[in-house]
Amino acid sequence: MQNLILIGFMGAGKTSVGKYLAHKTGMTFVDTDERIVAEQGMEIAAIFEKYGEPYFRDLETDLLERMQTDTENSVISVGGGMPVRERNRELLRSLGCVVWLLASKATILGRVSGDGTRPMLSGGDLEARVERLMREREALYRDAAHLMIQTDGLNIAEAADTVLREARKFRY
Ligand code: S3P
Repeated sequence: MQNLILIGFMGAGKTSVGKYLAHKTGMTFVDTDERIVAEQGMEIAAIFEKYGEPYFRDLETDLLERMQTDTENSVISVGGGMPVRERNRELLRSLGCVVWLLASKATILGRVSGDGTRPMLSGGDLEARVERLMREREALYRDAAHLMIQTDGLNIAEAADTVLREARKFRY
C-alpha cells in the first residue's frame, strides 16, 4: 500500500489521527517534526530560535526528498507549514494519497492555546495569527491535497475512520 499523508493546520489533529490510523491499519507512523527533532537533536522551537524559519523549511524539504525513497506503507503526519512550498506540495503528492484534515478556527484555537511549543504561534494575538495563517494557507492545502476531511465534531477514531473510508474510495 502506498503512503497516506496527513496535512493541515497546527492543531487539526494530524498526529493523533495519524497514530490511530497507523495502529488500526498496521502501517508505520511517521511524523516529520519528530524525524527532524531526532535528526537535529533539537526541539522545533530551538531550531527556529537558533537558525530561523527558512532553515527549518529547508530541513523539511530535505526530509521529504529522502522520504521518496526511504518511506513506504506509512501514515505520515507532516508539520502544518510543509505544504507552503510548491516543491513540497509536489513531493507530498508523489509520496502517496494526501489528506487535508480541516478544522474550524474555533477548534484550532481550543487546541493550540496555551501551547508554547509552536514558534509560528508565539507572541502577539493568537487569534489574529491563527486567522492570518489559516487564510494564507488555505489555497495551498487545497492545492496539495487529494482529499479533504472536515473534522469538526469528530473524535479521533471517527476522523480516522472517515479518512480511511474516503482514501479507499480514492482507490487507495
Ligand atoms: C508549523 C507547524 C508545526 C511545526 C512547526 C511549524 C507551521 O507542526 O512543523 O512548528 O508552520 O504550521 P504541527 O502542525 O504538527 O503543529
